[in-house]
Amino acid sequence: MNDLFSVKNKVIVITGGTGVLGGGIATYLAQEGAKVVILARNKEKGNQLVERITKEGGDALYLYCDVLDREVLESNKAEIIAKYGTIDVLLNAAGGNMPGATIPPDKTFFDVDMEAFGKVVDLNLLGTVLPTQVFAAVMAEKKVGVIVNFSSESSLRPLTRVMGYGAAKAAINNYTQYMATEMAVKYGKGVRVNAIAPGFFLTEQNRTLLTNLDGTLTDRAKTIIAHTPFGCFGEPEDLYGTIQYLISDASKFVTGTVAVVDGGFDAFSI
Ligand SMILES: NC(=O)c1ccc[n+]([C@@H]2O[C@H](COP(=O)([O-])OP(=O)(O)OC[C@H]3O[C@@H](n4cnc5c(N)ncnc54)[C@H](O)[C@@H]3O)[C@@H](O)[C@H]2O)c1
Repeated sequence: MNDLFSVKNKVIVITGGTGVLGGGIATYLAQEGAKVVILARNKEKGNQLVERITKEGGDALYLYCDVLDREVLESNKAEIIAKYGTIDVLLNAAGGNMPGATIPPDKTFFDVDMEAFGKVVDLNLLGTVLPTQVFAAVMAEKKVGVIVNFSSESSLRPLTRVMGYGAAKAAINNYTQYMATEMAVKYGKGVRVNAIAPGFFLTEQNRTLLTNLDGTLTDRAKTIIAHTPFGCFGEPEDLYGTIQYLISDASKFVTGTVAVVDGGFDAFSI
């Protein structure tokens, strides 16, 4: 057996680590022998997740974090270094759409709430850039590290109703390429930056768009599935292999890319 895809003993920081996708990825990577640091706002969920992972024999730490608060991020970094000595990987999974930033079917662009628009752009763009500025400093210093940003299908093709979210995720793709170049040119080929663009997964941040109050699928959700060659939403585990590839030596010549994991949604026309 070779170590090409190994993540063993890597210190992996996951923002939004209690979310549906971030939490699943954290659990998987801990099972693969990584030391996972879960950064999230919900203390109860964070502690429960760490308890579950450690019960299974994994190594995990939860720290309260708001990705838009530099002071908190700096104190997170100090605690991570004190416990694990370094940071090898940063997964910028915090993000998502917000109900207030969604344009209802009976409204138009001219009704967009600019405050909500700003908030969704801040969460998805600034909430990726700021943690990177804090945590990737450790990688730049040792000239080794991997960053994976969370993009979205909406970055490739604008989706109706979620203008702010799509604009922020499109910016993530551009920023990923910018950072891949910046890190390589300034710190060498040991620091890589890529993005993952999940298709459609039913999680907290899109639940109101995709399901009715009784749990049935909305017309929007049915349209998405009809447009997906695989005929279904993704499950968190559908992302694990791509994440493992991006953060292991298997992808050591890969930087500045966006890995699309969408059951064929982006490939489909008619
Ligand atoms: N679910 C999908 O279909 C889908 C598709 C493409 C991309 N994504 C992206 O994947 C990532 C994970 O989302 P998810 O679908 O698991 O949703 P989720 O709502 O389950 O998880 C998002 C997490 O981010 C956290 N978060 C929000 N604001 C934060 C802040 N200021 N500080 C720290 N944490 C904060 C939330 O509390 C939550 O735990 C997001 O960036 C999302 O945009 C999701």
